[in-house]
Formats: sequence, C-alpha cells, structure tokens
Amino acid sequence: MIKTTEDIKEALHGRMRALWPSLPIRSGVFISSPGRVNLIGEHIDYNNCPVLPIAVDKRIVALVVAIPERSVKVADLDPRYESIEFSLEEYERLPEGLVPFKTGHWGNYIKAAVNELLSYSLKEGQERSVTNLSTGGDHVWECGFAMVFTSTIPQAAGMSSSSALVVLSTLALLEANDVSYSSFEQRLALADICRRAEWYVGTKGGGMDQAAILMGKNRNAIKISFNPIDAVLIPFEYDIAVVVAHSTVEAPKTREMMDAYNRRSIECTLAGLIVAKILQNRYDIEHIRYIGDITPSKTGLEQSVLDAIVTDVFHEEPYQIDEIASLLDMSTDQVNRRYCKRKDGTQFPMPIEGFKLYQRFYHVWKEWRRVERSEQLLIQGDIETFGTLMNDSHASCRDYHEVSCPELDMLTDIARSAGALGSRLTGAGFGGCAVSLVRPNDLAAFTETLLHDYYGRNMRLDRANAEHHIFVVHPSQGAGRIE
Ligand code: GLA
Repeated sequence: MIKTTEDIKEALHGRMRALWPSLPIRSGVFISSPGRVNLIGEHIDYNNCPVLPIAVDKRIVALVVAIPERSVKVADLDPRYESIEFSLEEYERLPEGLVPFKTGHWGNYIKAAVNELLSYSLKEGQERSVTNLSTGGDHVWECGFAMVFTSTIPQAAGMSSSSALVVLSTLALLEANDVSYSSFEQRLALADICRRAEWYVGTKGGGMDQAAILMGKNRNAIKISFNPIDAVLIPFEYDIAVVVAHSTVEAPKTREMMDAYNRRSIECTLAGLIVAKILQNRYDIEHIRYIGDITPSKTGLEQSVLDAIVTDVFHEEPYQIDEIASLLDMSTDQVNRRYCKRKDGTQFPMPIEGFKLYQRFYHVWKEWRRVERSEQLLIQGDIETFGTLMNDSHASCRDYHEVSCPELDMLTDIARSAGALGSRLTGAGFGGCAVSLVRPNDLAAFTETLLHDYYGRNMRLDRANAEHHIFVVHPSQGAGRIE
C-alpha cells in the first residue's frame, strides 16, 4: 500500500517512465491539489454571496513534465484507467475550442482547464504571470504537458475532486509555460479563471471550490467573497475534529444532477433580478445583478431596511415563467433565452410545479447571514454556537433549497445525537458527504455510533466496508508545487 509522499512520487515516476519513456522526466515537478470541505455557506456562491470552506488533506498529487510538442497527455496512476491525449492545436482549429470527451469522462476536467487558459494570452514584453493574462495578446502557450496523477479525494462525494483536477490541470499548463501563479493576487486571479473553466463541463457553479483549493492554508478556514473575488484567512485551531462522513449516496455529475444544480442557480438568478427590479423601481437603485449585490454598500440602504424589503417580495407558491417575465418586464421568450439555457444551448426544462423563488431566495438570504455570523464566531472561538449555525444551515438546505436527501438527513441527525456540535451536508448535496464538528474526547464514541447506527443498521454495510467512509480532515495548504 502506498503511504508516504516519497512513495507516491516514486510510483508517479515509474508510471510516467512506463507510459512515455522518451520524456525528460527528471525535469518534472510535483504538484498537489487538495479537495475542500465547505464548513458553511452552501449553494450561495453562485449568487456572489460569501462562503466559508477549508482546503483539506485529501488531495491529488501529480508529476508534471513540460513537453514542447503542444500536446497534453494525462494518465491516472492506476493503470485500469485509460490515459488521454489531445493537441493544443485543436483549440485554434475549431471555433468551439477543444472537443469534449463523452459526458462524465474525467478527461473533460483537464480539457476544461486547458480550453479556458488557451483563451488568454500575454502581450509582448509582459511578465509571465497569471495576473497579466488577457485576451488579444501574443501566443503564450508554447508547451503542452504530460501528467500522471493519483487522488485520495473521494469521488462524487461533494469534496470537489473534479475542481481539484481542473485546478491541477491549469497549474500544469502554467508550470509548463513558466507562467507564475504563487502570489496571493495571482492565485485569486487564477481562481476566477478556474471558475469560468468549469462551465465547459456544464455546471453553472460559483467560485467556491476553485478558490478554496487555491487559497487554502494549513490550520485556517477561508472566507471567500465574490465580485470582486477575495479570500480572508480565519485561524481554525480549535480543539475540535472536523469529521467527514460519506452518506454512500453518490452524487455524480450526470445530466439530471447538473439540471438539479443549475435549476437552483437559475431560480436564484431570477429571484435576484426580481428584487433588483423592485429596488430600481422604488428606490432608483441600479446595477444590482445578483442576490449578493443586495448590500448596504451597493444599495445605500441599511441592512434592516433591505431585510424588510426582501421579506415581502415573493409568494410561497412556485412561479410560472409568464409571471416571472411580467415581473421583469420581459417576454417569456426573452427570459427563456437569457436565463434558462443549458450549456449545450438546449432549453432548460421548466419544472412542472414552477420555479421556487421564495424558498431559494429565503435560503440564500439567511445562509449569507449565517456565514457572516460564523466568521465572527470563529474569530471569537465560539465553536458551540458555530455548530448550531451548521445545523440551521443543514435544515435550510433540506427544507428551502431542497438539496439534501433522506440519507444525509438521517446521517446528520445521528451525528448530532452522537455528540456532534454541528452537522450538515457539505458541497452540492443530493448525496455525498456530511461534515460534523466533534470534540476529540467524543470522537471514538461518535465514530462507533455512526458505524453502528448509520452504516450498519440503516445502510447495511459491515464494519470493514463502512470504516473508510468516515475520516477526520484538517485545514490544509492550497494547490501548488510540492518539493
Ligand atoms: C458545488 C459547486 C460550488 C457550490 C457548491 C454548493 O460544489 O461547484 O460552486 O455552489 O456546489 O455550495
């Protein structure tokens, strides 16, 4: 069994030598890209509202070698997975850029990263830095790369294994072409590039995952804000274990799953636009685009006034498209064309019961306050109250945003009754993992209860199969080179 970083490096070297013996492997660099666990602030990043995740010590480690022939070759360390290869020239040849592999193929995360970076260039004489990338300059991507990677991030579990691969692949192309990315500003700029890159695979995500993966620091949580993107470290050095438990319900990025996620994003966008319209009509306030723009500083109105305004906007019954269109002074056709399209250009299917604008807006508005409060609580070291906010967050994800599932509800209930200070789903939901805060003294009993009550009694897993579904994570360093 592979254990130490040295073992992993050795194995990556071996696999690369076996696959591509003529490459200058000794010139390669090792890059690590972590998964993330969101502590609080779920499904609000795509509204430009702040979130509070950690990068964790489950990660992808890769060996990357620059190659001059402008191609990309990538392989998993595990030889059961086929390696992939494509040419950077394809991007220039085809108007739509790189042609994706079939839906769900892991290679699409590599292509997503490369496709996005290739849309930028540097101007003559500019320093080769991520912050100088723009459109309309000279070519910068002279080299491609070969990469072999291995991952300990559970897949389809809500820990961002795919974003870790996207970030990793951008770093590989940057490394291969000597473009620097390690300063704070460079990393923030890169997080934004990586966020856009993921639209290639069809999810209209916010920027939490990529930013957490790039901005993570040992022993710190990160408060990530958007518009403009920013990251503030919050020391997380409490005597508390951050325990991740997989519900065993996989949440793979199938078309149905992407539709379910994107539906929330569309509902929130429409809700934000309706509030913006009211602010414009009643108060002459312009330039509100996302729910995250509805702030005292952007509107000139106090928080209590904003709270009062938004409470009255939506009725609880779901909305049909013609009502939304009339509230926005648009035709239904315009609303459909502008806001309800899938990545492939097809029409997003209108949910039969209508769009749940009240419920989604309510979740986002309250969850945002919980993030702000959590930041203060963590700074003060009040981890107990923070735990209760995690519980509230889960309830809101379940009841208003409807992104939980019966198994996650059961798992978090059991976790709370087993002594967790707080327990909630983490990530996109619809399955995947729960995160719980547990006092070290309670950890053994907590784990026992989950093994017995959740995995044993409810999921019918025996101990050996259940044990690897529970693990403790630590706030860890963001993506970058490792020596
Ligand atoms: C996924 C997305 C993120 C975020 C979470 C939910 O992980 O990639 O941008 O929206 O879901 O909080």
